Amino acid sequence: MAKDSEKVLSPEYISRLRILLSNIIKEQIPNFIYDDLNTDVIANLFLYYTGQVSDYNLRKGIWLMGGNGAGKTSLLQIFSEFGKRRYDGFKIFDCSKVANDYAINGDLDVYTYNQNGYSRRAVDMAFDELGRETIPANHFGQKLNVMQHILHIRYNLWRTEGVQTYITTNCDADEIHALYDSPNDRFISDRIREMYNIIHLGGESRRK
Ligand SMILES: Nc1ncnc2c1ncn2[C@@H]1O[C@H](COP(=O)(O)OP(=O)(O)O)[C@@H](O)[C@H]1O
Ligand SMILES: [Mg+2]
Repeated sequence: MAKDSEKVLSPEYISRLRILLSNIIKEQIPNFIYDDLNTDVIANLFLYYTGQVSDYNLRKGIWLMGGNGAGKTSLLQIFSEFGKRRYDGFKIFDCSKVANDYAINGDLDVYTYNQNGYSRRAVDMAFDELGRETIPANHFGQKLNVMQHILHIRYNLWRTEGVQTYITTNCDADEIHALYDSPNDRFISDRIREMYNIIHLGGESRRK
């Protein structure tokens, strides 16, 4: 997403952006509750996605972890829409669907280098529900840990081109290690800490 990359925004412009965000939240979840569990996260994500100084490092991506129903996917959708109304936003892909896509088509270009896409270059994107997908996915006998593969390539794209990745997951650090690292290393886990702002969204499920 084209951010305002650390540009100083006028107070008037910032207050217009705040109104836009609160309207999007109202549209998406009319009975949205702001509480101690999400208020700081929303405030920091607002600053992050508008390129302002916050608790989060603007150079890094977002890794949103927390229990089932805590509101992770909702926040991603809200900020995806926020981006879309301003510039071009970012797409959200469900990790289970990504793994199924590989099983059927054997191709992950759209999630990585995007050579066959309109822009022919990698783009910022979000992956929802990391850890929920089938591991390994099986494309006619060709087995692949799809999200491990994608996380690895997107790390390289982040290093070389600054392309951002946004993740939600119910998994804690041990589960991520078990799913995506080899038994004897922390290849993916170490890169996660380097590449992402790690955000814990606490609380019980908000599902009714
Ligand atoms: N702050 C909130 N106030 C009220 N309802 C919410 C809030 N955040 C999320 N929800 C609702 O709670 C449910 C679970 O949210 P979701 O974002 O799917 O959680 P997660 O992705 O963490 O499992 C959804 O029905 C969503 O609309
Ligand atoms: Mg979710």
